[in-house]
Amino acid sequence: MPILVTGGAGYIGSHTCVELLNAGYEIIVVDNFSNSKPEALKRVGELTGKRFISYRADLLDREELEFIFTRHRIEAVIHFAGFKAVGESVRMPLEYYMNNVAGTIALCQAMAKFGIKKLVFSSSATVYGVPEKVPISEDFPLSAMNPYGRSKLMIEDILRDLAVSDTEWSIGILRYFNPIGAHKSGRIGEDPNGVPNNLMPYITQVAAGKLNRLSVFGDDYDTPDGTGVRDYIHVVDLAKGHLKALEKIFSSTGVEAYNLGTGRGYSVLEMIAAFIEASGMELPYTIVGRRPGDVGACFADPTKAGNELGWTADKGIAEMCEDAWRWQANNPNGYEEESIRMEQVRS
Ligand code: UD1
Repeated sequence: MPILVTGGAGYIGSHTCVELLNAGYEIIVVDNFSNSKPEALKRVGELTGKRFISYRADLLDREELEFIFTRHRIEAVIHFAGFKAVGESVRMPLEYYMNNVAGTIALCQAMAKFGIKKLVFSSSATVYGVPEKVPISEDFPLSAMNPYGRSKLMIEDILRDLAVSDTEWSIGILRYFNPIGAHKSGRIGEDPNGVPNNLMPYITQVAAGKLNRLSVFGDDYDTPDGTGVRDYIHVVDLAKGHLKALEKIFSSTGVEAYNLGTGRGYSVLEMIAAFIEASGMELPYTIVGRRPGDVGACFADPTKAGNELGWTADKGIAEMCEDAWRWQANNPNGYEEESIRMEQVRS
């Protein structure tokens, strides 16, 4: 019986689809392609040599969603679909709550209607707000600093309420730290719209000459070199964590949250050095002021995922940088390249 993957064309979604297919799962993808491209799914098919069905559909389209549940005997859902840009969420809070929170409610309602009560949800380390200390474990207090973070926290609360209301639900909440890197093939990777907000896609675009220089946001944090420290995790390790979470929800009920991180923090300056080493490229940068809303250090205690899911991240920072660079170098315009080439062929 297939696994429904919402947002399967996105960065983490597409890498998880590859791992699911390679592990022999049947998948059905639902994506509205608001922030992703069908080309990503085409490449997932090429990489795995497997065929799968995908729907261009919005979770808020109840009729379409129920049609999909009627058509396929879905066994469990991995729910990636959601908006994820912090700055944008501050400017467009209603869109974020509608898409992320209402979209998840609509999905859970459809699942309940069809008696499917197994869910893996994409949450974020952002739900820890400003952590009192590091490493961060799952029992730390939760808070949010912006509408994006609040939407993740609201969904977590809703899922916890749902599991209390009906004990047949089995829900795994995965709190991602900082996913970077790409599939080894260089065929799928992160394809941000416009100027990237996150560090690694910004770095790769500077190295590629698409952006002039990197701004390092602050060097006066209480960290070894003063720059922000984060727990970067290879997206393929993260994808594999979803398969472990899936196994877990098949064998238990209730709701549990797991940190998916490496447990090791790297500063912005360490990331710059690692990237230069891995790519052999130059990376001009300037130290500027802090970015509002940033915390100094954020890294995971991943013990719970190790003990309860049997999952640990095993790819190191050099591999993350090499893979991120291969994706950028091979796809200077992300997934656009293919459609631009097609246009050129036609004209
Ligand atoms: C950001 C979001 C977070 C979200 C996560 C994943 C903010 C405040 N936080 O986390 O809610 O869950 O992305 O999408 O946006 N940096 C620079 N220069 C840059 C970009 C980043 O120095 O051009 C620094 C940051 O200050 C930080 C580190 O690099 O210390 C990582 O930044 P980023 O990749 O944006 O991730 P987070 O801030 O951890």
